[in-house]
Amino acid sequence: MKVPFLDLKAQYETIKDEVAYTIQQVLDKTAFAGGPFVSQFEKEFAGFCKTKYAIGVGSGTDALWLSLLGLGIGPGDEVITVPNTFIATAEAISYCGATPVFVDVDEKTFNMNPGQIQSAITKRTKAIIPVHLFGQTADMDPIMEIARKHGLLVIEDSCQAHGAEYKGRMAGSIGDAGCFSFYPGKNLGAYGEAGAVVTNNEDLDKKIRMLRDHGQEKKYYHGMIGWNARMDGFQGAILSVKLKHLPAWNEGRRKNATLYSGLLGGVPGVIVPGEAAYGKHIYHIYAVRVKNRDQLIARLGEKDIHCGIHYPIPLHLQDAYESIGKRMGSYPVAERVASEYVSLPMFPELSSEQISQVVENLKQALSN
Ligand SMILES: Cc1ncc(COP(=O)(O)O)c(C=O)c1O
Repeated sequence: MKVPFLDLKAQYETIKDEVAYTIQQVLDKTAFAGGPFVSQFEKEFAGFCKTKYAIGVGSGTDALWLSLLGLGIGPGDEVITVPNTFIATAEAISYCGATPVFVDVDEKTFNMNPGQIQSAITKRTKAIIPVHLFGQTADMDPIMEIARKHGLLVIEDSCQAHGAEYKGRMAGSIGDAGCFSFYPGKNLGAYGEAGAVVTNNEDLDKKIRMLRDHGQEKKYYHGMIGWNARMDGFQGAILSVKLKHLPAWNEGRRKNATLYSGLLGGVPGVIVPGEAAYGKHIYHIYAVRVKNRDQLIARLGEKDIHCGIHYPIPLHLQDAYESIGKRMGSYPVAERVASEYVSLPMFPELSSEQISQVVENLKQALSN
């Protein structure tokens, strides 16, 4: 039996009629760029995240970039973040003209280690971007405390954490802004590219609405230089349909993670993902750690079991960030976990038989 890493079709099959209906609505209203379906989704997503505002944009990368711009981050500024994330987190900082400053991560959660922040703060530091990696939030209380003490802004990269919680609060609702990606493979994925910013800050909401639409509040009256980062109408409508299912899908992922961890818990040479007591992990990615990662992935591939690596090279070791001048050894925990983690197949529709098959083959691959 083939076990794909992700099966978007399996999920689509369960909501096909709802999707067809909503697409027809968008066509009938010709509401293709922004418009009522995006506004409706923004209201629903703000409600879901328990924030006052949500602004639909073109992607998670747009969400991060426009949040930074909207909060006034620019050339000469430094923004603290982590090296083990998708490159968009750092790119957004660079695209504002600011510089990413990396800090190492916690070995259990793979998230920003709050104990590393203080020594990375300089006169130029303006903001912190914790990344809620794999669907588990960073430890936000100490991060917020350091930020407030030093007058720094906090932007939560929640691109992998739709519905994750920290001490009962929704991911994205704790800092000054929360940024989401609706890339198709996310827990809440569009059928194309899309993203959103959530915030309780009225001025920021206004500013991002302008920035995403060429700096205009009223058509052809441009109060500032902006960009085209609007969400398209089809994506807004589809996301509204899918948002209703998200809590059940997240529960499905959590159930699958419990099954995996139960079966893999005692297996020598495998470290299962750690769940911090402070929050609710929604398992966008279920990553175990092993020593011979590449060999394991190849062996599982031979059995038609497909895994991923998120992410094999930390950002300070990428050619794109060579100018930062950091080398191997600069962030030992991020480097170690990046060389060890393997993302196992994970999606809500994954069956217990498929999970057993992954586990059995993984054990066999590790034992010879
Ligand atoms: C942690 C993180 N940040 C940012 C992004 C960028 O989102 P998008 O691909 O929608 O631009 C992603 C998406 O993969 C992500 O996982």
